[in-house]
Amino acid sequence: MAIKVILRMGNPALLIPCEPVHKFDSEELHQLVIDMFDTMSANEGAGLAAIQIGIPLQVIIFGCEYNPRYPDAEPVPETVLINPEIEFTSNNMEDAWEGCLSVPGMRGLVPRFSTINYKGFDQDGNEIIRSVEGFHARLVQHEYDHLMGILYPMRIINMTTFGFIEELTQHGMMDAARLPCENE
Ligand code: NI
Repeated sequence: MAIKVILRMGNPALLIPCEPVHKFDSEELHQLVIDMFDTMSANEGAGLAAIQIGIPLQVIIFGCEYNPRYPDAEPVPETVLINPEIEFTSNNMEDAWEGCLSVPGMRGLVPRFSTINYKGFDQDGNEIIRSVEGFHARLVQHEYDHLMGILYPMRIINMTTFGFIEELTQHGMMDAARLPCENE
């Protein structure tokens, strides 16, 4: 078990595009994935990119169990996605609050495409192809952005919707719109 330090916004490593993985099913790759899951669950995250623990490879993980507090939110299967590609399948975008383990304590309202196709590989090299929508689509777009050196605050259109969780909640900005899973 290895819980790694999560890089925070301001660290220039988070702004650099990540390199594709060339060798699957390697000891290093399996260890990286284990460290990422350990780190994500220790921080109650719903997603994590390898660069957030300082590894500049195109590896993301995500997943979100059914939460009785948000019965309408679809669970997202626990997924390892390597060298991902995304295709936007509609022009429709929707706004929702996002957080990020690299931007602790804050939330912002971010527009994302509501439906996408994505593909990539798991750590053994098996291909993954899915069509998804809603929170699942949002989560993948957020993690994919990390691989391009993009953090969610850069996607916020109206910066008055960016702030500390405590303030946004206390002042009724974010009450009904909290994410079913916190912290991408
Ligand atoms: Ni993030």
